[in-house]
Amino acid sequence: MKIGIHDLEVATTHYVLDLDTLAERHGIDPKKFSIGLGQDAFSMPAPDEDIVTMAAEAADTLLARHDVSKIRQVLFATESSVDQSKAAGVYLHELLGLPANVRSVELKQACYSGTAALQMAVNAIARTPEEQILVITSDVARYALETGGEPTQGAGAVAMLITANPNLVEIEPGSGFHTSDVNDFWRPNDSTTPYVDGQLSLDAYLTATTAAWDDLAARRDLSIDDVDKFLHHQPFTKMARKQLAALAEHTGHELSDELIEESMSYNRALGNTYTASLYFALTAQLHNNENLAGKRLGFFSYGSGAVAEFFTGMVQENYRDHIYPEHVAKQLGNRVELTYDEYRTLHSDFAATSETYTTQPTTHAPFRLSGVTEFQRRYEAQ
Ligand code: CAA
Repeated sequence: MKIGIHDLEVATTHYVLDLDTLAERHGIDPKKFSIGLGQDAFSMPAPDEDIVTMAAEAADTLLARHDVSKIRQVLFATESSVDQSKAAGVYLHELLGLPANVRSVELKQACYSGTAALQMAVNAIARTPEEQILVITSDVARYALETGGEPTQGAGAVAMLITANPNLVEIEPGSGFHTSDVNDFWRPNDSTTPYVDGQLSLDAYLTATTAAWDDLAARRDLSIDDVDKFLHHQPFTKMARKQLAALAEHTGHELSDELIEESMSYNRALGNTYTASLYFALTAQLHNNENLAGKRLGFFSYGSGAVAEFFTGMVQENYRDHIYPEHVAKQLGNRVELTYDEYRTLHSDFAATSETYTTQPTTHAPFRLSGVTEFQRRYEAQ
């Protein structure tokens, strides 16, 4: 029985900052961002947006095409959680009208946990193939101002429906894993921005993903030539090129950038979306390539700290009949461009507290955070 990604949808934020604007005000050559990091812009949430509003928008569009009564679980992966106890997915039940007999849980391991959620869903459906699972990856990447990470901020969500006999990608059994305790990137409970050791994070990413490849190759007798396209977690798109080059050197195979080129278009414009980044890479590859039917995709998932997984998926025959590139174009095109001063104000005014506050309606998205009252987050459809 085939199990995998049956359908997916994405969402991002109300605002966008063009990296040329940041470069100009910081006196940096814009090519450092566009070529050096491979990034053009990043999404930024309005005060009434967060991981829940983006997830609700992506899931709402997705579920409009499906029978909600078949869904048995919501697995919400994020590293920009809005509560230390309550799972973000629980808010979706009310907003999306999900049945009460659906289980909801939140997963965390930096940018990796979306892959854990996907694999948990696949395994659960192997036992009960008639059921369907909603996997959400949703994150807001906020770095401190005037740090190396600042141009790699971003925000976005990908909602995926995991089923038997999927329309898009069958997830193949057998993954390669790598876990090592590294302090490359972490965010303590009392900090709204992460601590980052930039160079260590690059090294940790390359070491962990290469080790995950080795683990899979040993277990599945898979050669690098058996993979038709590679997809990466893309904290910035240049990272995918760095990983491919490191993999080529490690395996002694020539690996051309054509293996990844089509996977980068959305992440260039969104910035880092943490858990969602790998799945935006998948979305871009499916949208930009008409000849993927029957082809094998190799997924490099990485979460700082650090956990990596390499796994593969087979693109299904009629996948082109089940993709919606116009929805992504609308998400990207509808964003309102920020001036540098507006961006600074928005960044400084970020409210991560549980104190009471209300937000003015800003976002044009279908769901918004109306504020916090009595320490409770309030969301509404609009
Ligand atoms: N024209 C073209 N290229 C230029 C240039 C110019 N004028 N000026 C600089 N560059 C190039 C540099 O040569 C460099 O390229 P290479 O790495 O290929 O040599 C690139 O631009 C970046 O320049 P620097 O290394 O000088 O950049 P930096 O020191 O300011 O920071 C960074 C880079 C460490 C990645 C920083 O952005 C950062 O800390 N980001 C956050 C952490 C991160 O994303 N780590 C990635 C791995 S961890 C992970 O994946 C998990 C996660 O999501 C966070």
